Amino acid sequence: MKTATSTPPATTTRAQAIESALATAIEQIATKRTRFSTLFPGDTTVGGHYQAHRQAGFPDGSNVGWTTGFWTGLLWMAFELTGRSEFADTARAQLPSYAIRLDRRDDVDHHDLGFLYTPSCVTAWRIEQTAQWRDTAVRAADTLMQRYLPSAGVIQAWGNLNDPLERGRIIVDCLLNLPLLHWASEVTGKTHYRAAACAHAQRSRDYLIRPDDSTFHTFHFDPQTGIPLHGSTAQGHADTSCWARGQAWAIYGFAINHRYAPELGLLDTACRVANYFLSHLPADGVAYWDLVFSEGSGEPLDSSASAIAVCGLLEIANLLPAGDAQTRYREAALHILDGLIARCSGIAPATDGLLLHGVYSKPHGRGVDEANLWGDYFFLEALARVSSHWRPHW
Ligand code: GLY
Repeated sequence: MKTATSTPPATTTRAQAIESALATAIEQIATKRTRFSTLFPGDTTVGGHYQAHRQAGFPDGSNVGWTTGFWTGLLWMAFELTGRSEFADTARAQLPSYAIRLDRRDDVDHHDLGFLYTPSCVTAWRIEQTAQWRDTAVRAADTLMQRYLPSAGVIQAWGNLNDPLERGRIIVDCLLNLPLLHWASEVTGKTHYRAAACAHAQRSRDYLIRPDDSTFHTFHFDPQTGIPLHGSTAQGHADTSCWARGQAWAIYGFAINHRYAPELGLLDTACRVANYFLSHLPADGVAYWDLVFSEGSGEPLDSSASAIAVCGLLEIANLLPAGDAQTRYREAALHILDGLIARCSGIAPATDGLLLHGVYSKPHGRGVDEANLWGDYFFLEALARVSSHWRPHW
């Protein structure tokens, strides 16, 4: 980690806060590393602490669900930021469970394979060039491709492909699963992964975004004809409101997809959804769980939405040419990060989470005002992005 000794006084305070938050986050990962070496933590803390992942039909701590990749990814990031080999050793020890999961088809019939396999196996390949983990991640991309419905040009998010309620439904989160497909095209030279990712990203742009640049969480298409039907929510306040984390997935997702496929013009889309997000934040930048709520509402925050948005805003700034817009998005990202550090940094022993005050799903009463693995992951990614020349894994 860099020191801030040569930084001018006005930014020294921010730089020191970032360095201190980074050191605290790394220690939180180190503390959990032995407890969660081959066992995986749950999606969220419970009363401030992670417990072994629990899911019906599987032993506690199994690699199932959609969030385990963030834990392996946190370990890889901690290794890259510190050079401490114990982090890489633990991340590496977890990788066979990702291959076994595909072999057995343990909870892989959903679109979240990018969240699972990009921070774990793709990252392992990028860091260590181990062919086995490249091949495992390509197999995950093949499994994701089984959910692509060519007639509608979309990847079905959830459920059995023959389920009439789920067939043809997309969700905004999937934009972060598309980098797995782009990466698979790059490493295999086969273009069908990229073609599916581009089609899905375009359909997402055309139908998940409302005229005011807010987003639907989910959208339904006729799976036979591809005719667009209607938007809806699963984790937001209402079908017509704007789920904060969905908007954040859109910011980062469209920005990353622009990096892979600039011909689609998705950077402008990323900027539009970012502007909506920024104009619906409280003063310190830590979002309420749905952007329909504001200060005084008494509703919980979703810090993870803000952490994802920081990464997205920084990605946008990297993609824009030097100038006022680039400066504006970078400053917005730093302002939100200031708020996250001040209000949400997790400090032991009260918690072993990195980022407090997240929400998994308010309508389902899950993980409300807890840390969660994706919030921890994107908080560390945000800190890494602004404190060093660290390159994101997406
Ligand atoms: N991708 C699922 C969620 O954001 O809750």
